[in-house]
Amino acid sequence: MQQLINLIDFTIMGDDRGSLIAIEANKNIPFEVKRVYYIFDTQSGVSRGFHAHYNLEQLAICLKGSVTFIIDDGTNKEQVVLDSPNVGLHIKGLKWREMHDFSEDCILMVIASDLYDEADYIRDYDEFVKIAEAQ
Ligand code: TYD
Repeated sequence: MQQLINLIDFTIMGDDRGSLIAIEANKNIPFEVKRVYYIFDTQSGVSRGFHAHYNLEQLAICLKGSVTFIIDDGTNKEQVVLDSPNVGLHIKGLKWREMHDFSEDCILMVIASDLYDEADYIRDYDEFVKIAEAQ
């Protein structure tokens, strides 16, 4: 079975002042960065995502608080709790993603390989499964 949860550990450059992590395109993440967005102030009980992408590659890092990701390839699903600023979830290929259980203080940063493009989204789950099965 294809591994669905791919985590990247980042080196923390710490000293007596605190911690720092640097993310560099094609060095410690495997793609060119074109966009960064972040999700915060998520209301209690709200889930997000519920889509797949044809081409986009992403890395999700929970900078503060916690969130649960579900990654689904149309056959299998796996979930992971992100709760550490030095761990990134790498999402590549045709994968349905959902985000659940945001903590009140959650700040989720997403680094993406391309600009926002609604044409790259698959937002209907049944359509996603059909496309995944045809691959
Ligand atoms: P949406 O796709 O619903 O977010 P999520 O997948 O996290 O549930 O995006 C919310 C709104 O923000 C929607 O109107 C599209 C817009 N948006 C942008 O304009 N640029 C972006 O980079 C993203 C991710 C969303």
